[in-house]
Amino acid sequence: MKNVMILTGAGQIGMAIARRMGYGMKIVIGDKKPENAQTISTILNQAGFDTVAMEMDLSSRSSIQSILAEAQKYGPVTMLVNAAGVSPSQAPVEAILQVDLYGTAVLLEEVGKIIAPGGVGVTISSQSGHRMKQLTPKEDEQLACTPAEELLSLPLLQPKNIRDTLHAYQLAKRCNEKRVMAEAVKWGERGARINSISPGIIVTPLALDEFRGPRGDFYKNMFAKCPAGRPGTADEVANVAELLMSGKGAFITGADFLIDGGATASYFYGPLKPKG
Ligand SMILES: NC(=O)c1ccc[n+]([C@@H]2O[C@H](COP(=O)([O-])OP(=O)(O)OC[C@H]3O[C@@H](n4cnc5c(N)ncnc54)[C@H](O)[C@@H]3O)[C@@H](O)[C@H]2O)c1
Repeated sequence: MKNVMILTGAGQIGMAIARRMGYGMKIVIGDKKPENAQTISTILNQAGFDTVAMEMDLSSRSSIQSILAEAQKYGPVTMLVNAAGVSPSQAPVEAILQVDLYGTAVLLEEVGKIIAPGGVGVTISSQSGHRMKQLTPKEDEQLACTPAEELLSLPLLQPKNIRDTLHAYQLAKRCNEKRVMAEAVKWGERGARINSISPGIIVTPLALDEFRGPRGDFYKNMFAKCPAGRPGTADEVANVAELLMSGKGAFITGADFLIDGGATASYFYGPLKPKG
């Protein structure tokens, strides 16, 4: 038996975190695209890790339960890395809400039922959640605490109240941060911790889709004018995950960490501030 890491989303960010934290563990990798899971699994196995690839769909509770059942065959689940998601240029509003918002909520709930004492998790949110205007305290609480199966019935998540796919993505990522706060209370009862990381522009296939999409110039301008003057890398996100998931982060739970090269700061108080 080995301690088990569940990695959902076999992309660049997920792989970078798995490489940093998954040594000596069994890493169970789930992705909607089985070929992505297999590719990352092969790269990691050839680098000395012990991984297995599975097809899984974050938007489905039964699919999440299946990967958890499979993972538990190898040993206690002590780490969760959720780096699965779709971006505003990749999917319509409904799919973004179903995967990024509902799916993440279900995953945190289901893993929270089985995470081993001392276990840790991170879920990848986004700077987008920080950029959206503040919600009311009531709306924030609804996103944090509404039972997962009722989330998509909330008034603020109805299609008539959502402008476009970017707005849906922002709401989903805001919800991720709030969910992490509410779940941290429950995970704490098991002696486990859960946090979220909100990256800015990180060069991955998902970001490259954005650069080529309708908001491509907007994103290129964003990293050119942010204080760091460049996009970030998945390995820099793994630096934050290492802090949160290691003993050094033992007092950190229910928190969200922005790593965006200062883009959000510039959006509010610098050259990236929208005109008018
Ligand atoms: N790259 C960025 O600039 C950036 C910025 C902020 C947040 N994020 C977030 O980081 C996370 C990881 O993205 P990435 O940049 O590593 O992208 P990526 O494209 O490298 O990886 C995302 C993976 O998620 C998988 N996926 C999509 N829908 C799924 C589903 N329903 N079930 C299971 N797997 C699914 C995809 O197949 C893909 O393998 C996402 O949640 C994304 O929103 C990325």
